[in-house]
Amino acid sequence: MQVMLAPMEGVVDHTMRELLTSLGGIDRCVTEFVRVTERLLPPRVFQRLCPELAHGGTTLSGVPVYIQLLGGQPVVLADNAARAAELGAAGIDLNFGCPAKTVNRSDGGSIILREPQRVHAIAAAVRAAVPAHIPVTVKTRLGYEDESLFLDIVRGIHAAGVNELTVHARTKRHGYRPPAYWEEIARAREAVPLNIIANGEIWSPADALRCRELSGCQDLMLGRGALCRPDLPRLIAAATTGQARDSLRWPEVIPLVQQFLELNRAHYDARHAPNPVKQWLAYLRAYFPEAALLFERVKRMRDPEQLALELRSMAAQRRQDEVRIPATA
Ligand SMILES: Cc1cc2nc3c(=O)[nH]c(=O)nc-3n(C[C@H](O)[C@H](O)[C@H](O)COP(=O)(O)O)c2cc1C
Repeated sequence: MQVMLAPMEGVVDHTMRELLTSLGGIDRCVTEFVRVTERLLPPRVFQRLCPELAHGGTTLSGVPVYIQLLGGQPVVLADNAARAAELGAAGIDLNFGCPAKTVNRSDGGSIILREPQRVHAIAAAVRAAVPAHIPVTVKTRLGYEDESLFLDIVRGIHAAGVNELTVHARTKRHGYRPPAYWEEIARAREAVPLNIIANGEIWSPADALRCRELSGCQDLMLGRGALCRPDLPRLIAAATTGQARDSLRWPEVIPLVQQFLELNRAHYDARHAPNPVKQWLAYLRAYFPEAALLFERVKRMRDPEQLALELRSMAAQRRQDEVRIPATA
């Protein structure tokens, strides 16, 4: 059983990958997508989205990071995949799931699912261009308008010789609206002997167990759930082996938020460091009510030092509360 951290453009960058993989339970990450249109991109594009290339293509915790490419043209995608592999990518992932209008207009993402033959041609060209020891994986939805081409898409991907397939169990038309149709993934598993990773709407260990049951998949990919509950990957890993594990409590999450701010101050222009922190709090508040209060307090803050002070005072306050009210009370 493996748990993957989903690619999320503008949210799961290398600082978030570093933080979340340090908590354990994540077996693989995928970068935000590199958009490929008509040319071979310079190395700096790959290095910017995947700074992990500088240390063997893994996060500091040793979790491999695959580079995701998005585009519609087999030859240029293959050239860029070969370049990413040369630069040290642990694997290459192809995005056929993105529903964004701007992306689909420029011939990339889920729009290609209307042409299973093209999905096959891209996957086959990329697989052929990347050395055999480097995995090539694909991430797809169930289809564009509906699921009618799903099995054609899956068969084409399998015939291309790729190593694994992740299925976000919704069509492009479904967008991100619940539910995810995990049972549809079971059809793909029956159609091809390819390892399939199930994705979509996994918010708790109970969801993970149910998704595995309905899809028949061993392996799962988590996106928003892992941002709302940073320990969800390790809780799921424990639940699938029948172990009990305590969930993180808010006082244990505050230091992670502080660490995330520091990572952003260190890796980017420090003036912009509050933005990703606020964005993460907006996810955390779905699970931790205290994150909602904190978000309200800091949402207009622009100075990283002021935000750091606010986080420090909240951490100190929580420590005092812990002394007054023992956790067992
Ligand atoms: C803000 C955001 C950005 C995303 N960016 C990407 C991306 O760059 N590549 C990709 O394949 N999927 C992307 N996705 C889709 C996720 O990887 C995932 O398939 C989807 O969120 C469903 O999983 P979840 O319910 O666990 O979040 C994105 C989703 C969101 C919400």
